[in-house]
Amino acid sequence: MRRQIVAANWKMNGSSELVQQLVPAVREAVSALDNGPQVVIMPPSLYLGEVKAQLADSSISIGVQNVAQWQSGAYTGEIAAAMAADAGCQYVLVGHSERRELFGETDEVVAAKVSRILASGLQAMVCVGETLEERDSGDAEAVVCRQLEGALAGVSADEAVNIVIAYEPVWAIGTGKTATAEDAQAMHQAIRDKLVGLGLPGNAMSVLYGGSVKPDNAAALFMKPDIDGGLIGGASLKAEDFIAICQAVSS
Ligand code: PGA
Repeated sequence: MRRQIVAANWKMNGSSELVQQLVPAVREAVSALDNGPQVVIMPPSLYLGEVKAQLADSSISIGVQNVAQWQSGAYTGEIAAAMAADAGCQYVLVGHSERRELFGETDEVVAAKVSRILASGLQAMVCVGETLEERDSGDAEAVVCRQLEGALAGVSADEAVNIVIAYEPVWAIGTGKTATAEDAQAMHQAIRDKLVGLGLPGNAMSVLYGGSVKPDNAAALFMKPDIDGGLIGGASLKAEDFIAICQAVSS
């Protein structure tokens, strides 16, 4: 059975104060869920230690939002996948559209990072998604398939158990606009077909939806057969909202 996952991407937001307020509340609420999702919190790396301390002995996982494509060495400011593993992470977000757009992360770089992440024994949460222009011109599926092909170039069927896909239409991120549950479902199905076409066990891999997921739209999205949970930005910074989204998966 596929894992249901709800992942919090704090982006460059938060503080020690937020960690102290939000993480214990999420921890308590998640532990009360029956049949709840795997919850993952990905704070800015500087707060990993504090988040980890708050989550000791809980089922919630931690992750980083990015790692370098290199193993180690003279790369000032970068973090290696092996360091994320050493720090107790289980997940690494890779290929987020903000990294692609603002930091020039190409499919080749994403693929190099995926291979470092897998080599470090971590789960890679690989983000894909089209821009509004690409959707309007009818290219959404082709773009997403090309990104999958690029990112997963070196991944074997055995390694795919450590890959999670996050479909995030770029036009839905932080905008308040969400894909309709039907459109998201259609893309998730296309993603699964593409994974199978790449020789990967697409029907056994978790495919998450991201882009303005909120308590009021989460249930409709998560009810769709090919949507296995969500990658949550803005709403992950409010305990109440993030908890409600985790509960929507559970129900
Ligand atoms: P959002 O961000 O929920 O604020 O739209 C999602 C993401 O970028 O991962």
